[in-house]
Amino acid sequence: MLFLETIHGRVSPKPPLWMMRQAGRYLSGYQKKRQEHQDFLSLCFDHEAASDVALEPIERFDFDTAILFSDILTVPLGFSQSVKFEKGIGPLLGTLPPASTPFSLDFAVPIFKTVQRTKEKLPAHKPLLGFSGSPWTLFSYMVEGGGSKTFEEAKTHAYGGLGQRWMEKLSDAVFAYLEGQIHGGCDAVMLFDSWAGHLPFDLIEDFLIQPHERLVTRLRKTYPQVPIILFPRKVPLPFLIELHARVRPHVLAVDNTLSPEDYAKAFSKETVLQIGPDPVLLKVGGDPLKKAVKRIKTAMDGRPYIMNLAHGVLPTTPVENVLDFVRWTREV
Ligand code: CP3
Repeated sequence: MLFLETIHGRVSPKPPLWMMRQAGRYLSGYQKKRQEHQDFLSLCFDHEAASDVALEPIERFDFDTAILFSDILTVPLGFSQSVKFEKGIGPLLGTLPPASTPFSLDFAVPIFKTVQRTKEKLPAHKPLLGFSGSPWTLFSYMVEGGGSKTFEEAKTHAYGGLGQRWMEKLSDAVFAYLEGQIHGGCDAVMLFDSWAGHLPFDLIEDFLIQPHERLVTRLRKTYPQVPIILFPRKVPLPFLIELHARVRPHVLAVDNTLSPEDYAKAFSKETVLQIGPDPVLLKVGGDPLKKAVKRIKTAMDGRPYIMNLAHGVLPTTPVENVLDFVRWTREV
């Protein structure tokens, strides 16, 4: 499996490739399945439909890994916090439960079934990636009740002490949730810290570094054969370097805050990076996309890396551009 071999240090002129949100609204098969369900979460909890959705991009584009079809915002359900997705608004969560609330994995039973069925239906040479939101990103949604521009509530609780308590609770919850995915058949796992870039310097230690240290150390010890990809989005370089050195994920997923040359300079050749063009460039396609792909390949030449996007694929992306992206990534 090129994907896993690369994570273990194999250098290839044709890097493994997949896309964040590769199973989503830009695909007609997804749209059809989505229409057959009342809302997005019903689709996530229908293990047959969800596994079909996860397989569609592999069948269409021959990506080097599948990713479980679900969402990071199922975890709050394990603390009995309500979650719904409102059309045109995004996620809406109920009030934050008391910090004494125990975590239950009951919500995840259908998700683990999705893992199993996806793994069964995948060609044997394609790995399956499990995932979770990171503690800070999950906490932000849980406290803010949805998306936020200022993260005022989340940061208020972070400075106030309640946030610290939740970091421990969420690290343990995420561990248990990923453990279930690994038992179900996931070959690797990814942690999405989508809102890490909103952490001010004085919260970096307690809300970015320590929760990941706790989580990744425990995962590495319990499941040494399962690689971990960490995506701390939009974290300034000095913190990113420290996070990487202390947490030691198998793969560091980077965005487009820096140029590919700067990422190559900042991290030694032993560091496996996951890197890719701006999703808007994938939507635009053509020459600008081709140039961006070439530039990444040149900057990453001679080191193991995974091609992806700087963030999730946009729903407005033409499928032809994805086909070009795959071709340009794999052409030598
Ligand atoms: O990558 C995949 O194909 C696997 C499935 C997956 C989804 N979301 C499906 C989804 C994964 C790995 C995610 C991760 C996720 N979800 C993140 C981390 C990555 C990132 O984008 O930063 C975050 C922050 C979320 C939270 C979330 N989920 C939001 C804010 C929204 C609504 C707005 C939006 O971006 O669509 C979702 C909905 C969602 N998650 C959809 C899909 C396919 C769209 C649902 C629909 O409207 O049909």
